[in-house]
Amino acid sequence: MDGKALAERIRGEIAEEVSGLGEVGLATVLVGDDPASDIYIRLKHKAAGEVGINAKDIRLASQTSEEELLEQVAQLNADDSIDGLLVQLPLPDHIDEARVIRAIDPAKDVDGLHPLNFGQLVLGRPAHVGATPVGVMRLLEEYDVPVEGARAVVVGRSDIVGKPAALLLLHANATVTVCHSRTKDLGAVTREADVLVVAVGQANVIGPDDVKEGAAVIDVGMNRGEDGVVGDVDPAAAERAGLITPVPAGVGPMTIAMLLASAVKAAKYRRGRVAFPGA
Ligand SMILES: NC(=O)c1ccc[n+]([C@@H]2O[C@H](COP(=O)([O-])OP(=O)(O)OC[C@H]3O[C@@H](n4cnc5c(N)ncnc54)[C@H](OP(=O)(O)O)[C@@H]3O)[C@@H](O)[C@H]2O)c1
Repeated sequence: MDGKALAERIRGEIAEEVSGLGEVGLATVLVGDDPASDIYIRLKHKAAGEVGINAKDIRLASQTSEEELLEQVAQLNADDSIDGLLVQLPLPDHIDEARVIRAIDPAKDVDGLHPLNFGQLVLGRPAHVGATPVGVMRLLEEYDVPVEGARAVVVGRSDIVGKPAALLLLHANATVTVCHSRTKDLGAVTREADVLVVAVGQANVIGPDDVKEGAAVIDVGMNRGEDGVVGDVDPAAAERAGLITPVPAGVGPMTIAMLLASAVKAAKYRRGRVAFPGA
């Protein structure tokens, strides 16, 4: 599954929507100097600029206090030129991540992490949903992977990928199983999957024998090693899978594209064109 090509097409569509809307503003807040977060933020800003989104890159020192960060979030909530707002995670240990997320205006919460958006997602109602799980669903749709009635297995239960991916698959009428670090005999479960989504953060956690013949495999993992970035699934699994996403050029570019789409949704809501941000 070529996430790079699909993301490129989606970005073209977004550029047209942005020019139709006039101005779309996206703000990102990064606290500290984590190198991986710095790369993600730079990729997001480059992509935003290319589609005509005004992106504001706010960098705060690692010793920034929780109160200072909350003040920054409040300012961006009140800033009419900002449609979408994301605080890059992880935050330094001295900051209560959940409290900061709760402070984001749900209408601007393009990462879909505010409890209002997460609750709407659980209920199957329109909401901002994280860009990575939305990108996973978009890839399945693009490649005509049957999801309704399929056995779907999600490995990983993070708030940013695993849980929302499982919920989206459930709402698409898959029969969903969620695996995690305490799952016994992981391979026995993953071998049942017609659709296998892996978001663990560990190279080769899924080997060729853990994949059902003909399954659609979405590898969300991004692990930096000596040979560059690799996913969570052994590339040799491609021989058993019917479809598989490569790493890089699979889910990664889709995440960036769907984040831009989320900013456009936020802008449409704020201009009264849709009834709820995710709609
Ligand atoms: N491509 C993209 O755009 C994109 C976006 C986001 C994340 N990622 C990548 O996706 C991966 C996962 O990210 P994340 O934020 O979801 O990570 P995370 O918050 O660390 O969650 C990892 C999940 O994997 C589970 N796990 C750990 N070891 C396991 C094992 N041996 N067997 C089964 N499950 C296991 C954990 O279980 P417990 O809950 O029991 O601890 C946890 O639920 C990372 O490589 C990350 O870089 C990529």
